[in-house]
Amino acid sequence: MTRKFYITTPIYYVNARPHIGHAYTTIACDTVARRQRMLGADTFFLTGTDEHGQKIERAAQAAGKTPQQYADEISAEFRNLWKRMGISNDDFIRTTEDRHKKRVQILFGQIRDNGYIYKGTYTGQYCVSDELYVDGAQPGDPCPTCGRITETVHEDNYFFKLSAFQDKLLELYANPDFIRPETRRNEVISFVRSGLRDLSISRSTFSWGIPVPDDPKHVIYVWLDALANYITAIGYGSSHAGAQEAFRKYWPADVHMIGKEIVRFHCVYWPAFLLAAGLPLPKAIVAHGWLLFEENKMSKSRGNIVRTETILDVLGADALRYFLLREVVFGQDGSFSFDALVQRYNSDLANGLGNLASRTLTMINRYFKGQLPTPLQKAAKMSAGDAIASAARKTIQEFGDLFDQFQFSRALESAWGLVAAVDKYIVENEPWSLGEKQDEESRSRLATVLYTSAEALRIATALAHPVMPDATAKIWAQMGLGDIKKVALQDLAWGQLRPGTKLGDVSPVFPRADKSAIERMQQMENQERSAAVEEQKPAAQAAAPNAAPAPVTADSRITIDDFARVELRVGVIKVAERVPKSDKLLRLEIDIGTEVRQVVAGIAEAYAPESLIGRKVVIVANLAPRKLRGLESNGMIVAASLEGGRSVLAGFLEDVPVGARLK
Ligand code: ME8
Ligand code: MG
Repeated sequence: MTRKFYITTPIYYVNARPHIGHAYTTIACDTVARRQRMLGADTFFLTGTDEHGQKIERAAQAAGKTPQQYADEISAEFRNLWKRMGISNDDFIRTTEDRHKKRVQILFGQIRDNGYIYKGTYTGQYCVSDELYVDGAQPGDPCPTCGRITETVHEDNYFFKLSAFQDKLLELYANPDFIRPETRRNEVISFVRSGLRDLSISRSTFSWGIPVPDDPKHVIYVWLDALANYITAIGYGSSHAGAQEAFRKYWPADVHMIGKEIVRFHCVYWPAFLLAAGLPLPKAIVAHGWLLFEENKMSKSRGNIVRTETILDVLGADALRYFLLREVVFGQDGSFSFDALVQRYNSDLANGLGNLASRTLTMINRYFKGQLPTPLQKAAKMSAGDAIASAARKTIQEFGDLFDQFQFSRALESAWGLVAAVDKYIVENEPWSLGEKQDEESRSRLATVLYTSAEALRIATALAHPVMPDATAKIWAQMGLGDIKKVALQDLAWGQLRPGTKLGDVSPVFPRADKSAIERMQQMENQERSAAVEEQKPAAQAAAPNAAPAPVTADSRITIDDFARVELRVGVIKVAERVPKSDKLLRLEIDIGTEVRQVVAGIAEAYAPESLIGRKVVIVANLAPRKLRGLESNGMIVAASLEGGRSVLAGFLEDVPVGARLK
């Protein structure tokens, strides 16, 4: 019977357009899925989009769209990007699809029937950005994950008896392969050991979600909804025989691959939900680190994203795939830069694999009329060639072992070690000199050198295929070997290349990139960012996020009179609402004692409008008015600007009267 293999990416939130952080997870899974197919496994690779919840509802509102319209647009961007990149996912699930919604309700019902859901009242802090209940936090406390200020939630909810699963979960983590890497496993163990509180799994103060069965005033907690995609997509809860069979075949998942920030949801909540529903547990949860850009996690809210399209346009998908898997140690954070990308591309692809392919195949064309020559037999003692053969055998083994442990960068390092060894072998044996000679000895040495090089090239190419599907398929065709997808990796061995094989047309696969490639990519990204700058400006007015304060020098100091010209007053927020089509802006009406001012402030990502009503703030009252998004802003609120562009409003510990002047 064929072995099955089921692998998933997280489903991506539709509040942000795809960037290379998302592409990273997708590429890693795609690579694993492709290798599994080449190993003969009946493989299912799932990805999709996470479209419900308060975060999406608010983002849609800010964009002036219905949540469904908004989700449709961004979900399509993900789908199109993966298509353009040749991602080999077998399905793409959207949480707003009927099949998903119905099956999530069935899952909820199953957990409830098993006695693990009860009704209660939740009062506590919630982070909308992470859609996370923050146990033990006080009003005003920041989210431990993202640092944004949590919001107070006070609602009647359905609760999940998470506390009942503490021991079972700890037993599960005893298997060292369940959570990888080790560091993440240890974090989860200590979190669960410290005690689990029951989890609120419904919300009733907004409606963008899947209704609780029989109680539609509540929507199901977005993480229960989202995690369930891993089973709803493959047929859980379906009444169709085909879907039921698919579910039986593919579940449990072999690998859930995720970013490290969502480990708790996948390693604690998800197995507990499954246990409560009486369903089998996934075999492994593998967490990777973050892609950093300019030293911060690449993310929409930090505005430091790099779009995948830019790299596709200039260097192609294979270059990005190779770079991310080779450069970043899987499990750890890794930095992205255009310089490093182009450097890797040139050294490993243009000069490495690409050069090996073109020099080897060109010489076979020149000296053997495009037909693979017959090497000397062992007896003739081509010891260097034998060394290449044994290096290749070792590489096949090593590459597989490392790759299957998700150590992509070490696996690739090992394959490129073979490429380097062959390069050296070619240089030492000077086939171009042998090619000038006509004697039999030189001819057969030449045949051996080129056969050996071609065979090593074939092996490196087959191993690299899951990582760079396009370029390796081209090399394969140039070698006259047909369809690379048909290679059975488990049978890959030295010596399978048949003498006499006729080469295809030979042309360079990785043309060298020059400096202008870096500039072009940077320019494309700068253009994209300056389009977003108008959006940033008002935020800068509120709190000048990210702007490093200029050092105080003797010349930059001001007098007390200069300062006295700034009129700072205490105001109280009466009205707060989002500015349509802006992610960052809130329109506020602030009572400053003498009058009520309209102020437009770039704090929408840090504060929910409703959380601001009645809050006392400091405003710069004598600032010249300016227009933002067509709205006049009369003054500016004072806020601390934290790393990552987050703003925290200035306030007072003691009570202060509205209108009081600060000096
Ligand atoms: O968390 N570096 O969705 P999401 C590396 N909807 N990986 C990154 C990254 C970066 N800078 N930025 C994003 C969610 N990712 C939930 C998941 S699953 C049932 C629900 C990757 O769109 C990372 O793998 O915020 C992260 O886990 C994933 O994108 C989804 O991020
Ligand atoms: Mg995220």
